[in-house]
Amino acid sequence: MNIQTIQTQPFNDQKPGTSGLRKQVKTFQQPNYLENFVQSIFDSLEGYQGKTLVLGGDGRYYNRQAIQIILKMAAANGFGRVKVGHRGILSTPATSCVIRKYQAFGGIILSASHNPGGPDADFGIKYNTGNGGPAPEKVTEAIYARSQVIDSYKILEAGDVDLDRLGESKLGEMAVEVIDSVQDYQALMESLFDFNRIQQLLTSPTFRMAVDSMHAVTGPYAKAIFEQRLGAPAGTVKNGEPLEDFGGGHPDPNLVYAHDLVEILYGENAPAFGAASDGDGDRNMILGDHFFVTPSDSLAIMAANAKVVPGYSSGLAGIARSMPTSAAPDRVAERLGIDCYETPTGWKFFGNLLDAGKATLCGEESFGTGSNHVREKDGLWAVLFWLNILAVRQQSVEDIVREHWQTYGRNYYSRHDYEAVESDRANTLIKNLRDRLPHLKGEKLGSYEVEYADDFSYTDPVDGSVSQKQGVRIGFTDGSRMIFRLSGTGTQGATLRLYLESYEPDASKQNLDPQEALGELIQIADNVAQIHELTGMDKPTVIT
Ligand code: G6P
Ligand code: ZN
Repeated sequence: MNIQTIQTQPFNDQKPGTSGLRKQVKTFQQPNYLENFVQSIFDSLEGYQGKTLVLGGDGRYYNRQAIQIILKMAAANGFGRVKVGHRGILSTPATSCVIRKYQAFGGIILSASHNPGGPDADFGIKYNTGNGGPAPEKVTEAIYARSQVIDSYKILEAGDVDLDRLGESKLGEMAVEVIDSVQDYQALMESLFDFNRIQQLLTSPTFRMAVDSMHAVTGPYAKAIFEQRLGAPAGTVKNGEPLEDFGGGHPDPNLVYAHDLVEILYGENAPAFGAASDGDGDRNMILGDHFFVTPSDSLAIMAANAKVVPGYSSGLAGIARSMPTSAAPDRVAERLGIDCYETPTGWKFFGNLLDAGKATLCGEESFGTGSNHVREKDGLWAVLFWLNILAVRQQSVEDIVREHWQTYGRNYYSRHDYEAVESDRANTLIKNLRDRLPHLKGEKLGSYEVEYADDFSYTDPVDGSVSQKQGVRIGFTDGSRMIFRLSGTGTQGATLRLYLESYEPDASKQNLDPQEALGELIQIADNVAQIHELTGMDKPTVIT
């Protein structure tokens, strides 16, 4: 067995963002770049000798090469076993499921989530801890700190592992097990949802659905679960072959990027239900016939209907949502008499709440929903949750949402993204806003009066850790609010996110287009933050 120790030098840009290290493929292809980061992960962990690591990715360009490197490094560093997804494929939630089920030490996920793939696009790597969830900040900070002083890494000199063949082999002294990507995950889904009822729905002649896997990781999962197991007609899953460049698309399930699906659901003779997932399978978009369910409402509706879903029928411990997510779930929590936690953006902040049994369902406005079944958000889980609700309630998606608004009121909500803004300009915009914060309280902006203006800071109720500067918030006396933050997941320049929300209890006023209902707030946001002037853009690049 030939373990090599290779001399290297630090790269100064290996700081993980909202969700791991994401860079252009070309950055990762620099000699030693990936190796440095992987060794920094291993060096900042303790006690993994002889233990199991789970490894897989979303199938994007460079996935297979990266897996071979990581396998050889894991062997050289003393892991006992790596469970790696067949053909290198493991969705993010499936990785979380496998880590938990086999009590692995941790896992490495290769994905840049919803960012495009291909030689000229993005790649990413993320470490998940033994609870199956994204490494918390103290771990990612330790990885970064290590990456800044690293001077060597270890790698086994060996041939490549055959990722196309299921089963076990040896790499040096380490066992490598190529596992079925879908099996464990599917078994977990069967334990949570009423598959019989969902099957009745999916095979009924009056119900049709379309699921768009966007040529990304969920194809094999969606085909196995919806078509093979639950009996949906062949062809229900569109774009179901994972491709290295996602077929040239942008695998982000929103109204802009999932346009193929949107055309089907908004076209003639539309199916009753539509859903899409992102690159690594943790995001979801839910559509009805000519109807879009905003992710914040989706979380609220799942919580309100959880009792009809077997895995959740005994009630929810609590709900957690990220700060920019609308307060729709809070209203459900209030009625259920449970807590609703408000965390910073980033799924990692839900981990402690889930581990401590304080929250059962979690969600974010960024098309992420999940629960304590794993420690990642879970796109297909959300689809099954909705199908379970539809199967029991026998109503349309639109009727369910409208009834929900009548009961709880409607939180009009929209997010405006300004992508690829020059970083200096975006930072100036946020800095100017921060400077204004102390003077805004009590000020009248249009017909709104500012009730509070601050920079969101979060104290984790479980471990007491504090995360500051998590988004500039301006809240108004009528409960409306706007939030400004810079994305932590982009790879080019900066992305400004503006989140807007207002509340409408009156059922007769709940039928507006959100852009119209939020029109004045949109104008105010531009005035306060000088968005057009500073970004040089006259409209957002994406509206969700
Ligand atoms: C990823 C994370 C989410 C986060 C989203 C947007 O999907 O897992 O937790 O909400 O990115 O993050 P960003 O920093 O780009 O707004
Ligand atoms: Zn994702």
